[in-house]
Amino acid sequence: MRIAMIGTGYVGLVSGVCFSDFGHDVVCVDKNPEKIEKLKKGEVPIYEPGLDQLMAKNVEAGRLSFTLDLQEAMEGAEAVFIAVGTPTRRGDGHADLTYVYAAAEEIAHNIKDYAVVVTKSTVPVGTNREVERVIRQTNANADFDVASNPEFLREGAAIDDFMRPDRVVVGVQTDRAADVMSEIYRPLFLRDFPIVRTDLESAEMIKYAANAFLATKITFINEIAALCERVGADVKEVSRGIGLDGRIGNKFLHAGPGYGGSCFPKDTKALARIGQDHACPMEITETVIAVNEAVKRRMVDKLLDLCDGSFNGKKIAVLGVTFKPNTDDMRDAPSLTIVPALVGGGAHVSVVDPQGKHEGEALLPGVTWIEDAYDAAQGTDLVVLLTEWNEFRALDLKRIASNMAHPRLADLRNIYSDDDAEKAGFEQYSAVGR
Ligand code: UDX
Repeated sequence: MRIAMIGTGYVGLVSGVCFSDFGHDVVCVDKNPEKIEKLKKGEVPIYEPGLDQLMAKNVEAGRLSFTLDLQEAMEGAEAVFIAVGTPTRRGDGHADLTYVYAAAEEIAHNIKDYAVVVTKSTVPVGTNREVERVIRQTNANADFDVASNPEFLREGAAIDDFMRPDRVVVGVQTDRAADVMSEIYRPLFLRDFPIVRTDLESAEMIKYAANAFLATKITFINEIAALCERVGADVKEVSRGIGLDGRIGNKFLHAGPGYGGSCFPKDTKALARIGQDHACPMEITETVIAVNEAVKRRMVDKLLDLCDGSFNGKKIAVLGVTFKPNTDDMRDAPSLTIVPALVGGGAHVSVVDPQGKHEGEALLPGVTWIEDAYDAAQGTDLVVLLTEWNEFRALDLKRIASNMAHPRLADLRNIYSDDDAEKAGFEQYSAVGR
């Protein structure tokens, strides 16, 4: 099967590479000449473990290529995927669909034989019907169906999530479109991964409901964590105790500094907005958005307590600034609230992150970037563990504490314990919800 993938951002590139690995012929197209140039040279513009090798393998096999030319990409394609960005629109919180509809128009101009136009970008309910309308209006003779095929990839684990999904969701209106989609995902169905075939609107809703639910789960445990601190309970014990109930499940119950990233913040805001537009307020989701902001501010208060009420003149090392490990993504990372509060309060902040520097340099002015956690901790008054990169999971705490001016540790991902910190010689240790 021949597939055109429009947009070589996170979702588009991972999906394009993985579809080619299924054995399909995939042409990825993007408007950005530098990006296409890089991809043609075999350079992957994002950090995602394993993606570069998989891309190289399929380019070499002749199944994967990159172009600026949509017409060329669509030549003979039975499926055209729209995987362009849908950022939060400034001012009103809506998803910005400019790129989606622009892609639909261009598809309309280039469609020759029957093709399924599949939306992979996260789009509000009703967008697929609008894509269909735009294509029909632009080219009355176009022979096509639309399909909604939302993506559930986690950054840092995207290839595995694509190759071993919990489910594939496909929203379609015709059997013909369903057949094309089944053919595309055949390698997965043969291995018994479930497919949810449904209508367009439900498929669109599934994506928002899934992300809002997960954001709610994290926010719930973060709120419980705050109460645990007050009453002397340990949120790790509580998470384990409730997570073993199969109805609750143990995933996404890690208390921390608040969720960030490219999906949860954007999709919760968009869902709240869709609710308002339909006079059906998404009150839980709206509360989750507000509580997540409060969680980040609570982390700043925690650090302020550890610094005896003032950041002024304190030396602080921050370990990890990306929104989670195994990514270089800084979008809505808790560090963007926490680090400026430290710098603004007059602290001298050094930052260590295995991948964050490239994006982080512009976003976190006034900090010093250091390669190594032990060097960064030297002479500091506080070490803040903010993102749980593997290399911060097994630190020699004794070595860190012994080189600090005032050995104090804020473990905002609950990696270590009171006991670990005490044995290592820390004077103070503060985690989340314990
Ligand atoms: C998420 C969804 O998991 C994915 O299905 C969707 O398609 C896109 O959004 P991603 O944003 O890559 O993926 O990261 P994820 O691993 O889900 O983490 C999101 C945020 O929640 C991170 O900031 C993470 O630190 C935080 N988190 C996650 C917690 O604080 N606690 C948890 O228990 C889990």
